[in-house]
Amino acid sequence: MSDDGRMLSAQQKADWLTHGYLVLPDFKTAAEVAAACSRAQQLVAEFEMPATLPVFSTSDRKRVADAALLASANTVQCFFEEEAVNEQGQLTVPKSRAINKIGHALHDADPVFKAFSHGRELAQLAQDLGLHRPQLRQSMLIFKQPRIGGEVGWHQDASFLATTPESVVGFWFALEDAKKKNGCLWVQPGGHHGPLRERYVLEDGRLQMQTLDATPWPEPDQAVPLPAKAGSLIVFHGLLPHYSAPNRSATSRLAYTLHATDGRSTWSPGNWLQRGAADPPLRGFA
Ligand code: FE2
Repeated sequence: MSDDGRMLSAQQKADWLTHGYLVLPDFKTAAEVAAACSRAQQLVAEFEMPATLPVFSTSDRKRVADAALLASANTVQCFFEEEAVNEQGQLTVPKSRAINKIGHALHDADPVFKAFSHGRELAQLAQDLGLHRPQLRQSMLIFKQPRIGGEVGWHQDASFLATTPESVVGFWFALEDAKKKNGCLWVQPGGHHGPLRERYVLEDGRLQMQTLDATPWPEPDQAVPLPAKAGSLIVFHGLLPHYSAPNRSATSRLAYTLHATDGRSTWSPGNWLQRGAADPPLRGFA
């Protein structure tokens, strides 16, 4: 944080507007990262396997377990790699190696990630990024397992977390070193100036991706990798096209993500993520 209390320099703010993302090394201390990693492992170890496993894959949306996803909105739920689950819904590798992600309310429901997700630095950063009334909407631990860590194809996060006007910002924390070989993020710099292509809509209890704009996804030569050391924070605009490649290396790539929207905008009633009257009220980073 600078002397005037700002998290971002004038150059970083200009880069944010131009490119739609920023990489902030050493945002979290080694101790904070270690606490988050060990809590992540503990959540997996303590997770009791259900009779039928929810499987998450963006390349095979038909297999997305809609009910499990919806049930995870305001709780802490484990999702497993599709390559680690056989036709009978049983794991083919140990649970700790099969976990794909945990979501979607760690920031509310888990004490360790609640602490990780709040603080003066994050609150100031959100202000500097233009989120004047930030509201934390979802959190995810994303495991990119050695060998079987799946690809997440080109997408824009605003497809899943729509507001009017668009306001969602992604906060992507590297909890382990993310490199090209173990599936780091790739982005299209400046791509947030383009249109929202798709919207993931809940309609009559069914989730489906609807095409809004036929603009093609970026060509491979427009993609830039964002390697990030553990403790780094990558922030990116909700309209920024991004993807991550499969992890075929021997090293895992654990990340924690938060998504925040601006309370001055209107949350779409078609978003998959909705809060009920019994859920805790929306909070910012403070
Ligand atoms: Fe994303």
